[in-house]
Amino acid sequence: MDFPPYFIDHIAGGRLIIGVIACIHVLINHPLAVGAYPILTWMEWWAHKNNRPDIDQLAYKVTFVVFIVTTTVGALTGVGIWVSTSVFAPFAIGSLLRVFFWGWFAEWLVFITEVSLIMWWFLSWKSAKTDAQKKKHIKIGLALSIMSWFTMALIVAVLGFMMKPGEWSQTRAFIDAMVNPLYLPQLGFRTFFALMTGAVFVWFCSFYFTKKQPAVRSWLVYRLSHFTLIGMLLTLLFGLWYWQNVPDVMKANSSVALLSQEFMGWYDKFSVLLGWTLVSFLLIAVGGLSFANLIPRWALLIPSFMGIWLLGHFERAREFMRKPWVIGEYMYSNGVLKDELAFLQSEGILKHATYVAHREATPENQIQAGQDVFMIACSRCHSTTGMNGVLEKFATMYGHDKPWDDGAMTAFMANMHQTRTFMPPFPGNRSEAEALVAYLQDLRQTRQPLQGA
Ligand code: HEC
Repeated sequence: MDFPPYFIDHIAGGRLIIGVIACIHVLINHPLAVGAYPILTWMEWWAHKNNRPDIDQLAYKVTFVVFIVTTTVGALTGVGIWVSTSVFAPFAIGSLLRVFFWGWFAEWLVFITEVSLIMWWFLSWKSAKTDAQKKKHIKIGLALSIMSWFTMALIVAVLGFMMKPGEWSQTRAFIDAMVNPLYLPQLGFRTFFALMTGAVFVWFCSFYFTKKQPAVRSWLVYRLSHFTLIGMLLTLLFGLWYWQNVPDVMKANSSVALLSQEFMGWYDKFSVLLGWTLVSFLLIAVGGLSFANLIPRWALLIPSFMGIWLLGHFERAREFMRKPWVIGEYMYSNGVLKDELAFLQSEGILKHATYVAHREATPENQIQAGQDVFMIACSRCHSTTGMNGVLEKFATMYGHDKPWDDGAMTAFMANMHQTRTFMPPFPGNRSEAEALVAYLQDLRQTRQPLQGA
């Protein structure tokens, strides 16, 4: 309410844009930056110790890919997360910035160090020739691996906090926000997930780089099978710990599945996908331990594709479960604070919003005031007629070609949080609920898309 609402109709406000950018970022960060750098450093070390220039060459080629992708798409999508969240959910990112100020300050330093180390490591690879130079070069790789992990370790705190702020709810202390109850389980989960998918990604690259070197390929499959299997086991263990700490009300969102077609659909898909991904990882990893030379080259591509879908679905599930909160028990997805809710419901939300045309809903301005109410209360999740369109939702409840009853719709607003626990409570007073209904009835006739900011 304190920011001009930026809205792209049809794609439900813009959360999809945040989601797509963030998913691409995580898909690069976890397997490549956090997972692959330590594996590649280990490969360089092993090649040096055993005098195997062919393995060193392979590590260098994969590093080239990781270097290019992390410093371009990786870095850009990182900035993209800031841009998209600032535009579409400024209230949320603003609060997070306030709570995590020093965390993000540290993150900036760590990130700069990481990028410098990537440059240094990659660009000095070829010139490290003597034993002493090579040893120093391996140490740079090690430092880079640690810094890449640190950037993730800082950001994971923010993600855990958004779901379950823990002690912070009472103390409002930065340190309590950092070590929220989901922090360690999620950090362990993501660390080993990154290691596992990092190994899988190096397999993927070896499809291209070991065409004429079957012996190098089976060395790689065999060695990285260990990384994959250990990563997988620990991912599962930390995953269980993580799941145990997810608040029950949010877990219940997965049983709300019964009410939400869409949720049910992807919850099922997620389970199936999880199963198949584990099978594909296991087949190659266990096979790699005993008969690495028999694994066909193309098979090394499969786990990467499975991993991409799995990670995407995981992030989506995590984001959905947190609803109706953007910050657990503190701020709803539409930016309304839990502590302000009762006040806004009795006083009216228009009176306390900054970017609205009217401060009060009256019979004369109903439609325009209702549009503002929609923008504040619903637009972060619903479009008008497009994705998750609000008209379609009402049509499913009240019929596509029958008239909708104003009274029933107003009553729905008062109870919307009860019928659908993942929706926040309606944050306005009765005349605002009526104005919203008037706007929706009008929208049903005109089907006029809502303009941006
Ligand atoms: C936190 C995001 C969020 C906000 C904010 C939100 N909704 Fe929803 N709403 C959803 C989701 C998700 C669904 C379920 C979609 C599905 O089941 O396919 C839904 C479903 C609905 C439904 C169908 C309910 C049913 O029982 O079938 C209606 C009607 C609706 N919303 C109206 C609104 C109105 C009006 C507002 C604003 C006052 C609003 N919503 C705010 C996320 C939200």
